[in-house]
Amino acid sequence: MTQDELKKATAIAALEYVEAGIIGVGTGSTANHFIDALAKIKHKIDGAVASSEATAQRLKGHGIEVFELNNVGEMPVYIDGADEITEHMHMIKGGGGALTREKIVAACAKKFVCIADESKLVDRLGKFPLPVEVIPMARSYVARELVRLGGQPKLREGFTTDNGNVILDVHNLDIMNPVELETAINQITGVVTNGLFARRPADIFLMGTPNGVTVIKPS
Ligand code: 5RP
Repeated sequence: MTQDELKKATAIAALEYVEAGIIGVGTGSTANHFIDALAKIKHKIDGAVASSEATAQRLKGHGIEVFELNNVGEMPVYIDGADEITEHMHMIKGGGGALTREKIVAACAKKFVCIADESKLVDRLGKFPLPVEVIPMARSYVARELVRLGGQPKLREGFTTDNGNVILDVHNLDIMNPVELETAINQITGVVTNGLFARRPADIFLMGTPNGVTVIKPS
C-alpha cells in the first residue's frame, strides 16, 4: 500500500469517532481524506469548525456547514493528522502551516483523534523540524531565542499563515521533554504558537498500517 492509501484508510476509520453536533476538522492530506469520507455521513452532524481556510473550502465544497468557533461551545471531537506522534500521544504538527488554528480548535474539543500513517510514529519528537508561527516583525528576535534553545530555525520561504504571520521551522531540536519545550517556546515574545502538541496531546491515534488500522491509546 502507498502512504496515501494508508492515510485514506485511517481517515475512513475515523468516521467511527464522529459524534452528533459540530465537530472540529484538521488540515493536511490525511484530513482531506477524512473530509471526503465525512461527506458520505454528513447527515449525522450539524456541521464542522475548520482549522484552516483550505479545510473550510473543502468542507463547504462537500456541502458541510462550517461554523465560526466563537459561535460554538465545546465540541465532542477533533480529528486531524500529525507530522510526528509518540506513544504518549505527544505530537509535532504544522507541516501544513495551520498549527495555531489547529491548536485552538483542538483545545475546544473533548477528544482529539489523531489520524496518520505508521511512518509518523516516533520514539522521540524532533526529526521533523518544529514549526513555530511568529509575528513577522519578531522574526529575527525569535530566531535568536530559538538558537539559544538549541535549535536551527529556518524561515519557511514564501509562506504566510491564515493569520498573516510567518513560520520558522526549527531543525535539530533534541525534544526530551515536549511539555517543557512547548511552554518555553510559547514564552518567547513574538511567538504566536508552536507545533508541539504535548500540553494537549491526542487521546487516541488511529495508525494506518499495511495490515489495517491500529488503535493506539496513551501508554
Ligand atoms: C497541518 C498539519 C498536518 O496535520 C500535518 O502536517 C500532517 O499532514 P499530512 O496529513 O498531509 O501528512 O499539522 O498543519
